[in-house]
Amino acid sequence: MRVAIIGTGYVGLVSGACFADFGHDVICVDKDVSKIDALMRGEIPIYEPGLDALVAENVEAGRLSFTKDLGDAVKNAQAVFIAVGTPSRRGDGFADLSYVYAASEEIAAAIAGYTVVVTKSTVPVGTGSEVEAIIKRVNPDADFSVVSNPEFLREGAAIEDFKRPDRVVVGAEDERARNVMKELYRPLYLNETPILITNRSTSELIKYAGNAFLATKITFINEMADLCEHVGANVQEVARGIGLDGRIGSKFLHAGPGYGGSCFPKDTLALVRTAQSNGAPTKIVEAVVEVNDRRKRQMADRIIAACGGSVKGKTIGLLGLTFKPNTDDMRDSPSLAIVPALEEAGAVVRAFDPAGMGEAKEHLKNVVYCDGPYDALDGADAAVLLTEWDVFRALDFDRIKSLLNDPIFVDLRNVYDPGTVCTLGFDYHSIGRG
Ligand code: UDX
Repeated sequence: MRVAIIGTGYVGLVSGACFADFGHDVICVDKDVSKIDALMRGEIPIYEPGLDALVAENVEAGRLSFTKDLGDAVKNAQAVFIAVGTPSRRGDGFADLSYVYAASEEIAAAIAGYTVVVTKSTVPVGTGSEVEAIIKRVNPDADFSVVSNPEFLREGAAIEDFKRPDRVVVGAEDERARNVMKELYRPLYLNETPILITNRSTSELIKYAGNAFLATKITFINEMADLCEHVGANVQEVARGIGLDGRIGSKFLHAGPGYGGSCFPKDTLALVRTAQSNGAPTKIVEAVVEVNDRRKRQMADRIIAACGGSVKGKTIGLLGLTFKPNTDDMRDSPSLAIVPALEEAGAVVRAFDPAGMGEAKEHLKNVVYCDGPYDALDGADAAVLLTEWDVFRALDFDRIKSLLNDPIFVDLRNVYDPGTVCTLGFDYHSIGRG
């Protein structure tokens, strides 16, 4: 099947490469000339394990190509995916759909023959109908259907998530469109992936409801962690204890510094706004947004408390800056709240992150960026583990002790066993463990 993907950001590029790998003939389009030039030279603009090899293989096989010419790509395609950004609109938190609508207009002008236009970007309920109206207005003769097909990729595991998803959700209003979508995802029938076919609004809402539920789960366990600290309980055991109940499930119950990233913060806020404007407020999600925002700021207070109540004139060695491991994405990372708060309290921050330092430098200008974990801790008054990258999972604590002025270790991801680290002579602080 011939597929065009509009937008070579995270979702577009991963989807394009994976569809090509399924055997489809894929062309990816972007307005950003430098991005397309880079892709044509074989350079991948984002950090995602395995993506460079997958793109290279499929380009080599002739199934994946890149272009700046949207019209040309759309004209030949049977399915066109809109995978442009839907950032939070400044000021009100609604999803900004201007890129989606602009792409729809351009697609409309280029449609030739029956085309299924698919929204892959996360878009609020009703966007599909708006896209349909735009295409009809721009090109009244166009033969097309608009389908919703949300993506559930996690950064760092995106290829695996695309190729072995828990489910595929397709929101379509007619049989022709449903058949095209089934054909596109046919390779997944082999591993019996459930393909859930719904109407368009339902599919659009599934994406937001899914992300909001996961964000709620994380926020719930984070609050339980705080309670554990007051009552001498262990949040990891609480999570295991409730997670073994099949109705709850064990995933997304790791207490930490609060969720970040390109989806949860933006999508929870957008859902809150959509619900409010439809007269059906989602009080639980509103609370989740508020609690999570506050939590990120509170993490700096924890670090300050671990340092005896003041970090004035002190140096903090920070391990990890990205919102989670295996990504270079800094969007809404807890570090963006923690570092400025520590600096405001008079600390100097030395930091190391395996992939995020390039982007971090744009936002956190006063940080001393280091060459490795031990360099970041050299001469620091306390160590803080913020992102659970693998390189931070087996640290040499004797070496750390010799580098730190004070053996203070704040583990915001509960990577280490408190007993073991304390035995090594550290003043060890973690999340929700007594
Ligand atoms: C998420 C969704 O998982 C994915 O389905 C959707 O398509 C996009 O948003 P992503 O943002 O890549 O993916 O990361 P994810 O692994 O879900 O983590 C999000 C945040 O939650 C991170 O900051 C992570 O550290 C935090 N988290 C996750 C926890 O604090 N505890 C957990 O148990 C799980």
